[in-house]
Amino acid sequence: MQFSTKTTALANTPSSCLILGVYLNGHLPEATAEVDIASGKAISKVIKTGDMSGKAMEAMLLHNVDGIKAKRILLLGCGKKSDLTLKRFTQILRLAVTQLDRYSIEDAVLGLSSLPVEKATIERKAIQVAKIFTHAEYRYKETISKVKPAQKIKRLALTCTSSERAQAKKGLDTGSAIGIGMNTARNLGNLPANICTPTYLGEQAQNLAKKHKQLKTKVLSEAQMKRLGMNSLLSVGNGSDQPSVLIVMEYQGGSPNSKPNVIVGKGITFDTGGISLKPGLGMDEMKFDMCGAASVLGTMHALCELKPKINVVAIIASAENMPSGRATKPGDVVTSMSGQTIEVLNTDAEGRLVLCDALTYAKRFNPKTVIDIATLTGACVATFGNVVSGLLSNDDELADKLYQCGLDSLDPAWRLPLWDEYQKLLDSNFADIANIGGPRAGTITAGCFLARFTKDYKWAHLDIAGTAWDQGKQKGATGRPVPLLMEYLLNA
Ligand code: BES
Ligand code: MN
Ligand code: ZN
Repeated sequence: MQFSTKTTALANTPSSCLILGVYLNGHLPEATAEVDIASGKAISKVIKTGDMSGKAMEAMLLHNVDGIKAKRILLLGCGKKSDLTLKRFTQILRLAVTQLDRYSIEDAVLGLSSLPVEKATIERKAIQVAKIFTHAEYRYKETISKVKPAQKIKRLALTCTSSERAQAKKGLDTGSAIGIGMNTARNLGNLPANICTPTYLGEQAQNLAKKHKQLKTKVLSEAQMKRLGMNSLLSVGNGSDQPSVLIVMEYQGGSPNSKPNVIVGKGITFDTGGISLKPGLGMDEMKFDMCGAASVLGTMHALCELKPKINVVAIIASAENMPSGRATKPGDVVTSMSGQTIEVLNTDAEGRLVLCDALTYAKRFNPKTVIDIATLTGACVATFGNVVSGLLSNDDELADKLYQCGLDSLDPAWRLPLWDEYQKLLDSNFADIANIGGPRAGTITAGCFLARFTKDYKWAHLDIAGTAWDQGKQKGATGRPVPLLMEYLLNA
């Protein structure tokens, strides 16, 4: 999908379709009023018929409007002017996508970018535009014979003033990179576990590095991890025929001596629960248990597209959690890379077991901050549903920043307390720590477990169990939290 900026008058800009907004009760935003005048009041006349009131999410297509270079005008209802938040603006963009698709329109000019949106700069609006249109391009293809037809829209021009142009262009580049990264994350998430194995994730990371010279990738084998003492990570893959891997990707866009931010993804390519086997109903969704890893790869892809002058290290801890004669059993004790021993009371609490060794490994990069991303607990889904990701942190400043980035990028996260009172729930009679904290406060005790391994740096944990994929008819990976991670990394 190609994005551009235009500073010419809307009426004089040729295209297949000019997209304009109408406020509630037929009030016209400036850009729409300008076209209305150029067209001899064609838009006002339509509004007078009562066919278009400007209610949010209304749409109407006009043809052959005199005085206008575009072949069509798509009018979109924007609701009350004072209610136009970034969320609403984004919904309207999604409506534009469906309408353009419905009429098989291949190129369009967007006259919505001048709408005043609450707290949003032209750059922010442009990010949303490029992100939404790129996101809409995605089709899952790998394992179906009849793929949905491709999106028709190929070129979108955003109108702005010449003083806004640089910011608009920057926003379009950012949004487009985020959209591409989200689609990478979605596709990896959607792939079935018989294709998307730990080895496959490693290959995808290698492929990305082959295409982008800012990126270095290495994939550590089980033997290499064994030498590092990553027995906790390795214990998760014991029951599987698929070898576990640790993927390390280094994006260097900044100076070599500026400290990196590190992101760490949970990459369980299938989670049966292991010997603590999960119930059968809905177990297919545990192919999405690598969505943390997918969001990390998606974020690296987005960085490679955008090429910002920053340093980011990505670590993916990947294994398949299966029951077998070789599988880890409840009560087994393993020694993590940190030296702390762990009693594995429940083999279904495997995410934290792979993450803890990856988090210990992260120390060697002398990180500015470390953020891990994981589909870690069912309790997080019970708390937040699919709206908000769980956020836990050992640093208030980092937590506040991530919270704000979540709001700004419309990819929100909400903090839970990581207080000492919860730590005792992880006590074990047979090891330094148990891998579960009982039935209560599941998201917090999972965070408490990880906190034992992250004392040496500023760290935050994002539990994306509820936000990483949609269920039901819309079943599929969402690409979250790539927008949140990009917002953070670009502004950290
Ligand atoms: N991958 C699951 C968490 C999960 C469950 C994500 C459902 C999304 C939907 C994780 O590995 C897990 O099984 N967690 C257990 C932990 C428990 C045994 C302490 C859970 O949440 O039930
Ligand atoms: Mn599990
Ligand atoms: Zn899991």
